[in-house]
Parts: sequence; structure tokens; C-alpha cells
Amino acid sequence: MNPAPYAYLRGDFVPLDQAFLHVSDLAIQRGYGIFDFLKVQDGHPLFLDYYLDRFYQSAELMELAVPLPRPELEAVLRQLIGRNNLPLSGIKLLLTGGYSSSGYEPPAQANLIITQQPIALPTPEQLARGLRIISHEYVREFPAAKTINYSMGIRLLKRLQALGADEVLYHQQGSVTEFPRANFFIVRPDDTVVTPAANVLGGITRRNILGLSGRPYRIEEGPVTLHDVRQAKEAFLTSTTKLVMPVVQLDDHVIGSGQPGRVTLDLLHALTQLEQQQLTQSYA
Ligand SMILES: Cc1ncc(COP(=O)(O)O)c(C=O)c1O
Repeated sequence: MNPAPYAYLRGDFVPLDQAFLHVSDLAIQRGYGIFDFLKVQDGHPLFLDYYLDRFYQSAELMELAVPLPRPELEAVLRQLIGRNNLPLSGIKLLLTGGYSSSGYEPPAQANLIITQQPIALPTPEQLARGLRIISHEYVREFPAAKTINYSMGIRLLKRLQALGADEVLYHQQGSVTEFPRANFFIVRPDDTVVTPAANVLGGITRRNILGLSGRPYRIEEGPVTLHDVRQAKEAFLTSTTKLVMPVVQLDDHVIGSGQPGRVTLDLLHALTQLEQQQLTQSYA
């Protein structure tokens, strides 16, 4: 493993420990920017097209221009992966507002930064234990965009720790949306799998779960309330790094049996298979 990975910063490859931005960047001055995060497994970026679609969509939603056309961005990504040789890693594509002399008006050029660092997947122990979550009323300002603003999630970390909880689930007047960094699903008493449709980021793992076919239960988008969660047989979250992770408690209510459920584990298996298929296609 390469101990000093390279990053791509404003047009150049530089060692990560020398990847700096100037303080006039609107990300620093005003929290203005977007990003995306994808997984590299055995040296292959998984579901790359989906992540690049979302990256360009977030940029457009936030009125930011990606300085590279898509084929060039993809070429840079592959060059970085080749240089760094980090078999299991995460790639972060970051597009910040750029260097602004007024500290407010965006300049013509946004700053593109790409980093790659090793990641760890959930352990069997974490999976077997599941997550305890708390609810909190909040909606992100631009739910469809993957912006860099995680102030609420970060501000709540101390509360999570004090309560011995793992994650916070956002809702609006009892209508559940998402976690700060993951999407949410429940398994209803009739075995239908549902994920909230409104005010959420289009997670790529969520998309992959919704796209699964041939299961003996339905998987759909729709409204989910806190009451639905308390009535659910199972619940789980999805994200690029956490895959499918069981949720066993919401506030002081134990969900279902309080153990990772059958449908949740079946979907984790199906997702892992889908990732393996992608890898096989990459080698073909
Ligand atoms: C707000 C939000 N929702 C959901 C997700 C999960 O998306 P994905 O499955 O693409 O990792 C993320 C990922 O960071 C996120 O930031």
C-alpha cells in the first residue's frame, strides 16, 4: 500500500499532505460547495457512472461549473487510482465555490479536488449488533444536492455520544427523511420494503436497492412516518461505506425483534452480489 497517496488539486497531482486551498475559497468563507464519494474495490470504482451523474447534478443544482468535462474527469480519476494503488478505498470528489476576492461573490472557476483514502467496511460484529438511532427534526437546505454542509449532523455528535446512540434520523413533523450521511428503509409488517421519497439525497446504494428485482417482497419509495418506524418489522440504513446496516432501536423503542432482520440481511447479500457483478464486468 502506498503510504502517501496523491490527490488531484486544481489541475495537478500533489501528495495529499501538500493538498492545500487558499483561505479565500468560498467553501471556507461561506460553506459553499458540493462533493461526492464513491468506493474503489480491488482497484475498480464501483457504479462510477451513477456517482458522476450525481456529482454533475449537484454542481448544476448549486450553480457551480465543474472545470472538467466528464470524459476528462473520468480519465483523471482513473489516473489517480492507478497512481495510488489503494485496493479498498474511497474517492472524494470535491467542488468548492472557488477563490473569491469579496469572500461572497463566486469567481468564474470553482476548485476541483479529488482525494483517495483507505476505507474499512462494517465488521460482522457491527452488523450483528445493529444501530441504535435517535430522531431529530431537521431538513437539509438542498436535499437533492450533496452539499458540503453537515453542520447539523456534526453538531449533534455530542448528543449522540451522551445518549449512547449511533446515528440521528432526520424527520419533518414526523415524516422521516434520511440520516446525515445515509438513506433509511423500513420493512413494513406485510414485508414491503419502503424508503422515504421526499427531501432526501438520491443515494447510490438506495438506488441499487430500489433496482433489485426477483425478491419475494416489494421494494418501493413512499412516505414513512416515525409511527411507521415504530410499527416496522425491520429497519436499516444504506450508504456507500456502510452498505446495508440494520437499525434495531429508534429513541426508546426497540424495532421488531431488536435483532438484524431476515429481509435486511437478504438485501445486504443482494447488494454484495451486485457489487461483485460490477467487479466481474470491470475485469471482462
Ligand atoms: C445526506 C446523505 N444521504 C444519503 C447518503 C448515502 O448515499 P450513498 O448511498 O450514495 O453513499 C449520503 C452519503 O454521504 C448523504 O450524505
